[in-house]
Amino acid sequence: MPFYQRLGEVPRKRHVQFRDNGTLLTEEVMGLEGFEGNESILYHLTSPCRVEKLGDFASIVREEWIPDEHKPLHLKTWDVEPGGDALGGRKLLMWNDDVEISLCRPTKAMDYFFRNGEGDEVVFVHEGSGTIESIFGEVPYKSGDYVVIPRGTTYRFAPADDEQRYLVFESPGLIEIPRRYRNEYGQLLEHAPYYHRDIHPPAELRTHRERGEFHVRVRVRDGYQTYVLDYHPFDVVGWDGYVYPWTFSIHDFEPITGRIHMPPPSHQTFQGRNFVICSFCPRKLDFDPMAIPIPYHHSNLNSEEMIYYVDGNFSSRKHIEIGSVTLHPSGIPHGPAPGLAEKSIGMTETHELAVMCDTFHPLRLTKLAQELDDGTYWHSWFEDPAPVSSADEDPAGVTSHF
Ligand SMILES: [Fe+2]
Repeated sequence: MPFYQRLGEVPRKRHVQFRDNGTLLTEEVMGLEGFEGNESILYHLTSPCRVEKLGDFASIVREEWIPDEHKPLHLKTWDVEPGGDALGGRKLLMWNDDVEISLCRPTKAMDYFFRNGEGDEVVFVHEGSGTIESIFGEVPYKSGDYVVIPRGTTYRFAPADDEQRYLVFESPGLIEIPRRYRNEYGQLLEHAPYYHRDIHPPAELRTHRERGEFHVRVRVRDGYQTYVLDYHPFDVVGWDGYVYPWTFSIHDFEPITGRIHMPPPSHQTFQGRNFVICSFCPRKLDFDPMAIPIPYHHSNLNSEEMIYYVDGNFSSRKHIEIGSVTLHPSGIPHGPAPGLAEKSIGMTETHELAVMCDTFHPLRLTKLAQELDDGTYWHSWFEDPAPVSSADEDPAGVTSHF
């Protein structure tokens, strides 16, 4: 919902007659926060309330793992089993009342449509490309994209024939561009790490007129209700407004660096309800002659910190690899491994890429997290670090705890 968009045909005024071959179209106002938030107005060939049959309701079941001890965790996700589609293949890793974080390695296209009726979604595409087909039009995606899908969007992933690997965030709250990046009119400010040109709304609207049997799965009441329609749900001839799916590439995030160390909020990409999503991108490191480019130890006493490692060389931190997830729970400090602060001095850049999610309330873990946990990460501050010999091995900056 970054700015006003319009695709297809819309009438001259809101809420007036608008016809397709003589037939009055159905106008739908899809809005957030009552009638006070952003909205889009869509024009349908068929009433979006029309349902032929009610399918099943399937409650969401979460298998929780409660660790015996309170400790930092390292989950190795690279080899998580692929399977399913972009919705059914989501494997929940951790969650709280504000956000659910899942892994997904889909191997097939969705043969149904999905609408999240109770949450906004951000899908980080670690690997893969394709198209999000949606009621607002088609949104191409590629490796490195954050796909932002507001609640109420009927869509499906149409992946290309390549390996797909996603990190998925779902939230009952709104997921937005940080407020401090926007002026009172919504325009992104000069100090923001990205601009409107970096944001890609639906590129093309295709109006589907075919009849048949179409299944739409809707997430509501902590479960999935299937509705069977006798018309294609992408029956919109035009829409306009501020609510629609869009993509933003992590590679278009302009890192903010300083003479001395900049704190994690400088990497913020999205704001959610009681959580943030940040992007740690390749960048120059702190350039004061006395700077320690590696982050300081810190205790975010009321924050949990989840980091997903996307790309780079993590050899200086034992066992961390692409696809690793570290979780630093609240209440205890974290920081660089022993000796690394000294070794980082004089290093000038980092080439590492990571996605971080900080939550203000504790995250609960699933049995999958238990399966992926290396069991030893908590002890790594007790060990001698591996030697660092080049800037590419430099752990500085990419996380707030290396
Ligand atoms: Fe941190």
